Amino acid sequence: MMSAEDNRLVTEIGPNTGCGDLMRRYWQPAALTEELGGERPVVRVRLLGEDLVLFRNDDGTYGLIGRNCPHRGADLCFGRLEDGGLRCPFHGWLFDTNGQCREQPAEPPGSNFSRKINHTAYPCIERNGIVFAYMGPGNPPPLPAFDCFEAPDAFTFAFKGFVDCNWLQLNEVGIDPAHASFLHRFFDDEPEEEGYGQQFRFSTEENEMAITKVLREYDCPEIDIEQTETGIRLYALRQINEEEMHVRITNQIFPNAIIIPISNEIMLTQWHVPIDDTTSWWYAIFSCFTEPLDKERMRNDRLELYTLPDYRPRKNKSNDYGFDAEEQRNCTYTGMGDDINVHDQWAVESLGVIQDRTQEHLGATDKAIIANRKLLISAIADVSAGKEPQISLRPEDPSSCRGPVAIDTIAPANTWQTAWKQTAKERRQRSDWAQDILSEEFTTALES
Ligand code: FES
Ligand SMILES: [Fe+2]
Repeated sequence: MMSAEDNRLVTEIGPNTGCGDLMRRYWQPAALTEELGGERPVVRVRLLGEDLVLFRNDDGTYGLIGRNCPHRGADLCFGRLEDGGLRCPFHGWLFDTNGQCREQPAEPPGSNFSRKINHTAYPCIERNGIVFAYMGPGNPPPLPAFDCFEAPDAFTFAFKGFVDCNWLQLNEVGIDPAHASFLHRFFDDEPEEEGYGQQFRFSTEENEMAITKVLREYDCPEIDIEQTETGIRLYALRQINEEEMHVRITNQIFPNAIIIPISNEIMLTQWHVPIDDTTSWWYAIFSCFTEPLDKERMRNDRLELYTLPDYRPRKNKSNDYGFDAEEQRNCTYTGMGDDINVHDQWAVESLGVIQDRTQEHLGATDKAIIANRKLLISAIADVSAGKEPQISLRPEDPSSCRGPVAIDTIAPANTWQTAWKQTAKERRQRSDWAQDILSEEFTTALES
């Protein structure tokens, strides 16, 4: 349970709010690269309560600038992409990717007025299918050397989806390991090949037990957490029998991302990005250690669930998320189909657009949620006081921000604490792109 004041503090993300200032100190996804794939790479962006326009120049440079022209406020999303920038169609003012006004063709010859017009603009960087923006003060930090950024593009796949609620409830479902045994319960285990790139649709290498079976039959996991240099590591432990322990390790990457295992080789790094206080995007990069991903198949699978160009879920509040009572009796816990994104969508949206956390009753399974809220509140206080937050993701050496390790494995019950590290190490050794960073990554894992 939280006070109404703290709940406001961690959910309001607009300019000059505590949480908004905190979020702006980290790279945030602004768009998928594919959204800029057409002939005119210009896309409207609403991010952290600000209306912006993202464009790409002929030379490949991205500009993310205020949506309303600083002259008289026209909508720059309709701008002409030309002459190295974006030109307002109202009176022809031209803005470069830094927001500097370069031309004002109707002003008198010799006028230097344009030099004084420096429009809102945020630095961008593109990596593995997502354009990230830095909206905070000072110089942006380098991107951390997380696996999702280190993996070659062919080994990754990116997508996003709209969610009709505040960012924090979306984030909190990602650090709640107990819900998977209920919300995502399937009464039967489906053949693995039908679940390519889908969460909870694989078998562990060790005893070939389907994860759906593990989650269904062992529904009271022991949950442990520990703070790391990138956020919080979560352990969900399910004792299978006297000899075997199911160990699932996921991470909160502070402040608004998670990394979780999708299969033995595929990880999912997912950001929960505020559009404004009451709506959000999830942005995901799937990354594989061992082989290129079938991007086309993964994209087509998602297009069965999401519409373009708005990335809205086809199953949503307006159609009861496809709820089917017979399915709920016989096949799935929710009666909302096989896709776990739909389950999560229902779960987070049903809490209301901004969950009233003064009314909740958190239990032992909510450890990570409680710890993360404490971290958020203290980081907001640090930033408000002009200090660096404790987890800043601004190490002197960016390459020290490795991993983080996410793994789902069956380990010997009495040595699981070391066995999962060995399994993660072997996985990395099988990977062409990840084996070089083996030692650093494990230094991080072992020390933190
Ligand atoms: S409103 Fe944009 S140039 Fe005048
Ligand atoms: Fe979930």
